Amino acid sequence: MGAGIAQVAAQAGDEVLLHDVEQRFIDRGLQTIERNLSRAVDKGRMTEEQRGGVLAHIDSRLHWEDFEVDAAIEAATENVLVKLDIFAKMDEYTPPTAILASNTSSISITKLGAATTRPERVIGMHYFNPVPVMRLVEVIRGLATSDATFEFVRDLAIRHGKTPVAANDYPGFISNRILCPMLNEAVYTLYEGVGTIESIDTVMKLGMNHPMGPFELADFVGLDTLLAIMEVLYEGYGDPKYRPCPLLRNYVAAGWIGRKVGRGFYDYRGGAPKASVPPDGSARHAPAARE
Ligand code: 3HC
Repeated sequence: MGAGIAQVAAQAGDEVLLHDVEQRFIDRGLQTIERNLSRAVDKGRMTEEQRGGVLAHIDSRLHWEDFEVDAAIEAATENVLVKLDIFAKMDEYTPPTAILASNTSSISITKLGAATTRPERVIGMHYFNPVPVMRLVEVIRGLATSDATFEFVRDLAIRHGKTPVAANDYPGFISNRILCPMLNEAVYTLYEGVGTIESIDTVMKLGMNHPMGPFELADFVGLDTLLAIMEVLYEGYGDPKYRPCPLLRNYVAAGWIGRKVGRGFYDYRGGAPKASVPPDGSARHAPAARE
């Protein structure tokens, strides 16, 4: 998602510094941005010159060094230890006045703030995938976040062409507290044989007008991310209604974590995505499997 955030920031005219742990991740991010902008040129929404102008706003750095920035937005994997380490480093390598934001899907902003010397300047800035398309930014205030930090980030989100919505700092915030239990429930519905991957997706698309079915969306978000968020909800609220489905755990254990690896609940390797029936026999009572 970091590439998407960098793209919308550069399109808004911000000077962007892309940082990652390996050069290949930086290169992949830049390629994604170049591809998205080329599509906009092909569709006549942007000139080749404007595309070049946006790309000129993006620079990259592989190593930590003194970053002279007004704000830094972390968009690493959904792992609290990884994020705590990054926040400690952002605290060390950015000016003390810089705002430090996290694109976390569910992790406590208060906890991330406590890893820095400036918790009043730490805030959640949660974008949605695909970032250039989705209009929401959930803005999450930790216990120590100041009004000035909130206002800065709210205005930044608006400049990025997004609609900011404020949420308090509780597991999953607003978005993933509602979305992820729905996706997890879809996996239970498959696991218990009530429906198939296709039938469950069709019900939600045609019956509820969702643009993607829950399995398509889970694969899109990443099953590892979905599981990590469910674990945060389960642990944070201590309520069994958030228990991750064992079938979801199995897919993640197998490494079938969605589109990014070519296989999740659908198989994306070659041609149109095909639903892949769980090979462990769960869902064997589903109507389509019985025919
Ligand atoms: N990056 C950039 N742009 C993209 C894109 C991508 N990965 N995928 C699609 N687009 C653009 C296309 O270029 C197209 O642009 P245009 O209208 O200007 O021509 C537009 O999106 C529509 O694309 P398509 O016509 O190819 O496809 P669809 O109409 O099927 O839309 C979709 C694709 C926008 C992804 C739509 O299926 C959708 O809205 N799905 C739901 C997405 C969703 O729920 N996201 C939130 C996930 S949860 C999350 O991110 C939070 C995290 O914490 C878990």
